[in-house]
Amino acid sequence: MPPGSEHLSAERIQAGVASRQFGRTIYCLDRVDSTNIFARRRAEQGANEGELVFAEEQTQGKGRLGRTWFSPPHLNLYFSLILRPEFGAAQASHITLMAAVALAETLECVLSDPPEIKWPNDILVRGHKLAGILTESSCEGTRIRFVILGIGVNVNVPSELMPVAIRESATSLFQVTGREFDRNHLAALLIQGLERCYKELAGAGFAALAARWERYFQLKGRPIQVQMLDQITHGTAMGIDADGALIIRDQEGVTRRVLAGDVIPLTLSPCC
Ligand code: BTN
Repeated sequence: MPPGSEHLSAERIQAGVASRQFGRTIYCLDRVDSTNIFARRRAEQGANEGELVFAEEQTQGKGRLGRTWFSPPHLNLYFSLILRPEFGAAQASHITLMAAVALAETLECVLSDPPEIKWPNDILVRGHKLAGILTESSCEGTRIRFVILGIGVNVNVPSELMPVAIRESATSLFQVTGREFDRNHLAALLIQGLERCYKELAGAGFAALAARWERYFQLKGRPIQVQMLDQITHGTAMGIDADGALIIRDQEGVTRRVLAGDVIPLTLSPCC
């Protein structure tokens, strides 16, 4: 059977996960509106940290900033992980950064080109989006009740099946490598990577992961445009601060913190 034609199975995924704190309970659904919505319901019902929800297809896959996430059946990975961190709500943004490190490190093992992190939550290969992260938190005052960490990875989808609107900007493991991937095996690798990085975050804070995050952040020192709700800022990307905010230095030399927005790399104009 070609590796890409295997259906998702909780047993097969669990067989590949060594430690099993994440993934003791795994739902593999045929079709769901959004794995984040399903996982939020499970968390509200008291599900334990580490419970995972996978789906073959999402009918209302959610992206960041109210966008939709292209979620055709049987080709990619769409999953949500329930987390109940002990750190405070002020550190919730670290979960997205932690997940980006875990995804980049895991995907690097199966790719010949190193992945890049595009702040805050995109994983790119050769400048095209391969995976995205959508973190949704439920807090009570300064305490986090739970976090739903939603991850979408374009695995075996060929370019011609992608909607025209994202065909130029997105890619998949299949498109990058020319081969199909066993999604159960890849899911197990991702779960292990997430568990390892989450333990580091919970134990020592984001400082434990910051250097690795920076290694994948290719825009440092480069001119960028950041599109916020009703505002566009230009400047040089300097990195992130301890809260995970993007630091840019604008044309006047003023340093600014960006908490949310879309980053667009600008090409350096050739010197005359
Ligand atoms: C983004 O880059 O905009 C974030 C995309 C996150 C997509 C994943 S797929 C699994 C989970 N369920 C959703 O509805 N969205 C996330």
